[in-house]
Amino acid sequence: MRYSVSVAAPNSSRPLPALLRALTGDRPDRTPVWFMRQAGRSLPEYRTLRERAAISMLDVCLRPDLAAEATLQPVRRHGVDAAVFFSDIMVPLRLAGVGVRIEPGVGPVMAEPVRDAAAIAKLTAHQYGQDEWADGVQAVADGVATVVRELGTPATLSATPTALGRSLTPLGRELTERELAGLAHSADVAGWTPVLGFGGAPFTLAAYLVEGRPSRDHLAARSLMHADPASWERLMTWCAELTGQFIATQVKAGASAAQLFDSWAGALSPQDYRDRVAPYSALAIARAREATSPTTGQSVPLIHFGTGTARILADMHDTGAQAVGVDDRTSLAEALAALSRSRAGLCPVQGNVDPALLAAGPAPLERAVADCLEAGRAAPGHVVNLGHGVPPTTDPAVLTSVVAQVHGSADWRQVAAVPWEPRA
Ligand code: CP3
Repeated sequence: MRYSVSVAAPNSSRPLPALLRALTGDRPDRTPVWFMRQAGRSLPEYRTLRERAAISMLDVCLRPDLAAEATLQPVRRHGVDAAVFFSDIMVPLRLAGVGVRIEPGVGPVMAEPVRDAAAIAKLTAHQYGQDEWADGVQAVADGVATVVRELGTPATLSATPTALGRSLTPLGRELTERELAGLAHSADVAGWTPVLGFGGAPFTLAAYLVEGRPSRDHLAARSLMHADPASWERLMTWCAELTGQFIATQVKAGASAAQLFDSWAGALSPQDYRDRVAPYSALAIARAREATSPTTGQSVPLIHFGTGTARILADMHDTGAQAVGVDDRTSLAEALAALSRSRAGLCPVQGNVDPALLAAGPAPLERAVADCLEAGRAAPGHVVNLGHGVPPTTDPAVLTSVVAQVHGSADWRQVAAVPWEPRA
């Protein structure tokens, strides 16, 4: 099969990418779509990359070429509207010299959980980019910059590797026509694809720090919040500054939007969220928005996402986020009703196809995507995503077909139907 690959010419009158338009309350012709955890284990090419590199997940995050390659893989394959930088919410902890590893099949595990004032004092003496970790911060910046170079900016459309006729991956392999078609589909009429930076919200980071490992109800963290408010304040302020700096690193390297993940915020009562958590998320967002993206010349729109957040969506918006991510336990209609009660008023929303539908067969999935698009029409701006991350067992071809449906693209649907040929 031949693919038409059109290379964009630089032209300042081109529209901004659909993702950036939707996040600023616009309704572009094509509804943008990307997937949380679009990079990673659902992709055989990612599994190959990991096997070859034979280093840990967090070490991959600090290798600019590998992180850039993992970031680009789902863009080439799925033609999504954004590249989410391959990293992890735990990376800035490591860049502050804190002992953390990702245990396969378990998640983040801390060398020393921080359960009391003394441990928190010790932790908060650590600084982002201290000592030899300045190189790690630079590696994150270099990884983002590599992706931005591959995917273009308004200023460098004619200088992207593909526009120059160079079609090598960051690891030096020749891109296939199918992969070039994916990049072209992603870039669409804007001619470039935005890179999305991210970080973990203070509560989600604190939950891992205090528990020491993943937990279901975050009991120790929630106890500490009430037992020792001064230590809680110290811990949360430190986490907010850390994540703010981590997002700022990505923005200054060229990310043009960012997402704050508060995965576990739904474990809190609305009162605790409002009083003891939201102010620190607001601090992280404020710090992130102090950075200017060289890609757009502006501070970046922030998407604020959590799960189980139906009752705190308005508070999440009022932390200063430009858009709110909605999980699949809340309908977009409910989310919009809640957001209309926020001080800042309605805002663009992201979400919220149930990841379970990805394995439910084509008919239920297509219905769910159509319903999601329909519900999103009531929002000032809509970015389609899943309600949470892509399950590792997902058939990637199913994700590509979701992109084709969201974009209403018969051409892309045809491409999506052709089996992916693995490339070494
Ligand atoms: O494609 C993307 O979305 C970008 C990369 C990304 C990763 N983690 C890579 C990763 C993003 C955005 C994250 C965010 C993240 N990490 C969150 C917030 C989002 C969410 O899922 O709620 C959280 C809570 C973490 C912490 C974390 N890191 C967990 C819970 C796990 C899973 C552990 C496991 O093995 O099941 C990780 C590891 C991780 N982060 C993997 C990937 C691709 C898998 C490990 C691997 O590939 O070896």
